[in-house]
Amino acid sequence: MRSWVVIAPPIRAESVRRSLRSRGLLRRDLRAARSKNEVAFPVYSLPEPPLEHTRVEERDLPSEPPSVQSYRELLHLSPDLQALLPRAFDVVGDVVLVRLPSELQPHAEHIGEALLRFVPGTRKVGWDRGVHGEARLRRLTPLAGTGPWRTEHRENGIALLVDPEVAYFSPRLAREHARVASQVTANETVFDLCCGIGPFAVTIAHRKVARRIFAVDSNPAAIALLRENAERLGVAAHIDARNEPLERFLPTAGAADRIILNLPHEGIKYLPRVSAAVAPGGTLHYYEVTARADRSMRGTLLVNQLDRARWASVEERRVHPYSPQADLVAYTFHRR
Ligand SMILES: C[S@@+](CC[C@H](N)C(=O)[O-])C[C@H]1O[C@@H](n2cnc3c(N)ncnc32)[C@H](O)[C@@H]1O
Repeated sequence: MRSWVVIAPPIRAESVRRSLRSRGLLRRDLRAARSKNEVAFPVYSLPEPPLEHTRVEERDLPSEPPSVQSYRELLHLSPDLQALLPRAFDVVGDVVLVRLPSELQPHAEHIGEALLRFVPGTRKVGWDRGVHGEARLRRLTPLAGTGPWRTEHRENGIALLVDPEVAYFSPRLAREHARVASQVTANETVFDLCCGIGPFAVTIAHRKVARRIFAVDSNPAAIALLRENAERLGVAAHIDARNEPLERFLPTAGAADRIILNLPHEGIKYLPRVSAAVAPGGTLHYYEVTARADRSMRGTLLVNQLDRARWASVEERRVHPYSPQADLVAYTFHRR
């Protein structure tokens, strides 16, 4: 694009650049041209008086791609609305999911376009209107991009097929999937209850340490994806995938050395039944959304509610913030 430029020798370039910038003359939409002998800065208008050691002329310069730190810089909303733009969003494979307050509804598509431009490799952006129902499915509205919601997501060196429209998946649990898998020791029997598309079960199976893994979920779409993931990773023989509610699975399942119960809002109602299935010396990983104010006492309270005599210890770890007042917390119970 044609523009006036202010030309300085390289040794003066930095002070000239600062001077042009402080006067609001430096164009940010065009790229400065640098050569061995000079630097040409594009300007909106010529400095008055002219800067020392410089000359001016008109030139054609290439556009400068915008360098932005956040997708929010690509949007031009009123300050009130700009302040409501979320800082965080989920990246699931090549799909970006963002939660928006209702005030931003009229701008939702622009926000989608901004995320599509900003997050490298994004194919599609969706408005995540929150999870609902027993299967904990996200209500999704497409905002920008194309193609299906189904995508391939990589975590902990494993490729997982995910379809956030038909089965629950959260990329924020990646560290938890790896942490639990790393604790599994030789010949354990593992129950992954409420397994979703199987990130715990598949990550554990991938390490080829456990003797047997049972993965249980009441959502048929989740179990279908889990089976596909296990096949693709060559671990299908290690996972017994069951499409049934855990209340039907548990009575005939016997005991396990390690049980994962990841149903953060409802899990408490199954906790007595599930904890009874942990073998002596075994471990229970229980996930719960806990109010921050209750966190310090919650683990002890849970052990007391179960059967204090059977449990040696409980550890807790904050997985991620859930709301301004609550966190998703991982409780690990060790059986005597
Ligand atoms: C929060 S998701 C857990 C997903 C998975 N553990 C993970 O790490 O991605 C909860 C899952 O529990 C399943 N679910 C809900 N109630 C259930 C029940 N009574 N028995 C078995 N599965 C259930 C849902 O279908 C959903 O896939």
